[in-house]
Amino acid sequence: MTESIYTVFDTSDRPLSAIDADAPPILEALRIGITAPSAHNTQPWTIDIRSGTEASLYFDPARSLPFTDPLGRQVHISHGTLLEMTAIAATSLGYRAEFNILPEGEMSFAEFGTKPTAHIRLVPAPDIEVDLLFGRILHRRTSRRAYEGQRVTEAEFRKIVEQSKREGVDAGMIPEDRFAEATEIIKQAVAVEVNDRPLYGESLTWFRFSKREIAEKGDGINLFTMSGLTGLMLHLARLTMRPRTFDAALNRKSFLKTFDQAAASARGLLTLVTPTNTMSDWINTGRVYVRAQLAADALGLRFQPVSQSLQEFPEMDKLRAKMDALVGVTTPAKLQMLVRVGRSQPPALSPRRELGSIIRG
Ligand SMILES: Cc1cc2nc3c(=O)[nH]c(=O)nc-3n(C[C@H](O)[C@H](O)[C@H](O)COP(=O)(O)O)c2cc1C
Repeated sequence: MTESIYTVFDTSDRPLSAIDADAPPILEALRIGITAPSAHNTQPWTIDIRSGTEASLYFDPARSLPFTDPLGRQVHISHGTLLEMTAIAATSLGYRAEFNILPEGEMSFAEFGTKPTAHIRLVPAPDIEVDLLFGRILHRRTSRRAYEGQRVTEAEFRKIVEQSKREGVDAGMIPEDRFAEATEIIKQAVAVEVNDRPLYGESLTWFRFSKREIAEKGDGINLFTMSGLTGLMLHLARLTMRPRTFDAALNRKSFLKTFDQAAASARGLLTLVTPTNTMSDWINTGRVYVRAQLAADALGLRFQPVSQSLQEFPEMDKLRAKMDALVGVTTPAKLQMLVRVGRSQPPALSPRRELGSIIRG
């Protein structure tokens, strides 16, 4: 199956940077790669273009989440999603993507952004098959809406795993008899975050409150569409929620109520676990996560990561330990992703920055 990138993608569906017919393959592959999912839609990367087929990926420290992601784990999972999406896009151009992950070694927090996370090299492969997940790239969206319909079946889970598995990342589903307990931890963990000023304050800086702000910044989370609010509820939300009032007790309460309803509607809970918790594990997890999300999309299933109970700040220690015990994870293994899965109405489109603004120099 060879699908041209130009026929498959409807650019009105996803804020893709404009096509440049003269662009070298590395730019064309990255143009699609940067529509990858990232924590809080921070898009925490900069890219150094080294040639028409090579680039280096760096972390952008200005886009870190020091309170909710103190280790930099989630932002590096996000690098994994970008790399995998770039590799999938490369197959549609007749190239195989080769990655040299952490070419200068693992980094301490202070070193983030000073050394590359990966060198990317596109190698011509005229006979390469277009990755089957390529056609789902523009359709993939995180859905924070309530889910409906039947539970995720064993067969659906197996298909998702088949198309996403990589050595070193274990995918699982929370079993039926632990579902209610897991949902309770997920809800409590979100409440911990939302009711803590510095933690929630950090998330608030990534919430976007107007179309103008979204257009200007091209990142973050579109607040008004994030829970699928429509009609009168959306109107009320627009009237009452402003950056300065969003953390008012009443607004936090209604935010949590909407979240709790969405959490309770999960039709499956996917887990991704690594045997250790290194930067390479984080990047590997991102690669698996996005493939799983694309594979699920092909089955009509949506994803929403629910990351709070996995996070590594002291206020979360108890709930993180509870979730680890429920999933059966013990140190040095790490539960890297916990994901609400189900069917929903189409979720909102999330913004992206222009490729040009991400390229260094
Ligand atoms: C590592 C990681 C953690 C995430 N955690 C959450 C989360 O806790 N809650 C949530 O609603 N979305 C979460 N997301 C989804 C992102 O917010 C989403 O990918 C981003 O806003 C872009 O939107 P899109 O996926 O629709 O393109 C996470 C994504 C990644 C990669």
